[in-house]
Amino acid sequence: MSSEAKTVKFRIKRYNPELDRHFVSTYDVPVYKGMTILDALLYIKDNLDATLTFRYSCRMGQCGSCGILVNGKPMLACYTQVLHLGTDVIELEPLPNLPVIRDLVVDVKPFFARYRKVTPYLIKPEEELEKPEEFLQPPENFWEIWDLTVCTKCGICFAACPAAIDDSYLGPSALATNYRFLRDVRDEGLNERLDAVSETLWLCTSCNSCSLMCPKNVDGSASVVETRSLVVERGYIPRTVKEVLESAFTYHNPLRTSQTKRLSWAEGLNVKLLPEVESAEYLYFVCCSAAFDPRNQEIARSTAVILREIGVDFANLGKEEWCCGDHILRMGEKGLFEELADHNVSMFEKYGVDKVITVSPHCFNTMKNDKPYTDLGMQVYHYTQIIADAIDTGRLKPTREIRRRVAYHDPCFLGKRNNIYEEPRKILESIPGLELIEFRRRLENSYCCGGGAGRVWVEEAPPEKRPCVERVREAVEIGAEVIAVACPFCMTTLEDAVKVLEVEDKIVVKDISELVREACGL
Ligand code: SF4
Ligand code: SF4
Ligand code: FES
Repeated sequence: MSSEAKTVKFRIKRYNPELDRHFVSTYDVPVYKGMTILDALLYIKDNLDATLTFRYSCRMGQCGSCGILVNGKPMLACYTQVLHLGTDVIELEPLPNLPVIRDLVVDVKPFFARYRKVTPYLIKPEEELEKPEEFLQPPENFWEIWDLTVCTKCGICFAACPAAIDDSYLGPSALATNYRFLRDVRDEGLNERLDAVSETLWLCTSCNSCSLMCPKNVDGSASVVETRSLVVERGYIPRTVKEVLESAFTYHNPLRTSQTKRLSWAEGLNVKLLPEVESAEYLYFVCCSAAFDPRNQEIARSTAVILREIGVDFANLGKEEWCCGDHILRMGEKGLFEELADHNVSMFEKYGVDKVITVSPHCFNTMKNDKPYTDLGMQVYHYTQIIADAIDTGRLKPTREIRRRVAYHDPCFLGKRNNIYEEPRKILESIPGLELIEFRRRLENSYCCGGGAGRVWVEEAPPEKRPCVERVREAVEIGAEVIAVACPFCMTTLEDAVKVLEVEDKIVVKDISELVREACGL
């Protein structure tokens, strides 16, 4: 055993079911190099408090029984080294989204009940099952689905999943397991499997938390999208989903609005248009939500005003800017995504676009990561990157005070999907008087607003089952006066939640571009 390195304080949120009492216990643990959180719990139990209750078995990341929240993030206790966390105080809590039995032990029955709903074994006709032969799987099929078979059912992804706030949602691991069997050439349960998931599959926001947190690198998020695409192919989709897809097909945007109105956000701004000017250094890609939604038009306008102030030469495509297709792709309509993206790509080629600035993290994500956009080799920027650079280099100076406590909400498609965490914070920190505070769940552990993958348009869940309501509740709890966002979809969902919770007198939602515009007096 290695020598002792330092003492770390463990604050453990506990529950006594006999007294129905929640309480916190604090312990000082001498920590050595290589010591895991599970080792620390065992030290506490053996030396400090024999009543502390937690679950474990294999101690080597295989059985999946030791999942807990470590400083707010779901992790395996036996897989997490104390010193790697780089902090002298560690908070431990039971996994969320499941009932607590005692201390750190949650009831996993509701989690496994979801597996039963997806039939986690081969579906074959009765007569096939009676034959003595084995069902042989070709090696290439074995390897195709290998990544999905390594799930240990630890529930980490389920704890990280914002859609699981709605108990009808099957959760990432059950859906990944279902998809594993959909891809297995020996399985004959296509219709049964799609029927089991096709109602609630749309609750997933493609936030990517499940895939990021999974200790076994199971890509739950992609499994949901691939399953959706099978459901879409079959044509049995809910009315609300159908309406969004039909609108994107007919109007080239999901908001059922004529493209002739696409430029109404720019009224009075005299924005350059690519069909009219020959070229510009950057293409300013506005996004359907910021182009048409009256509230979000303010974001497109503020960003344009700031870009002009810092001397960025930009132009917009006007009505030739079609939906980028990010939501459509993640709703599973790959063919429609290609149609929308092909149009945009043809415009980019026509005007020789090689640099794009996007308002929305969704346009940013798909143009940066998805074909056919990536074939163009363009430089793609989210507007926060451009503004942060202008502030860094002294080209933009926010001088007017904004004396508010501001919590920055990381949009999933900017943060978790593209690792942009610093720039928005740097911008907010540069505003005089502004006090930047942090959500309890932030950065890669940020809690989704619930608007991704088209959910912003198909939301029908009651308020208590909407992630945006949970997020605004958290903002109010930490004492934020402003929730700063950098995404039009976060704006829509969070503003809606502020109204649902009736906290308009306590908190407002502002886009970073609006705060910068105000602080620069533009
Ligand atoms: S998918 Fe990953 S995080 Fe989810 S239960 Fe399986 S192993 Fe755990
Ligand atoms: S992508 Fe997000 S919402 Fe979808 S299953 Fe994973 S964690 Fe849940
Ligand atoms: S104890 Fe088995 S995974 Fe941690």
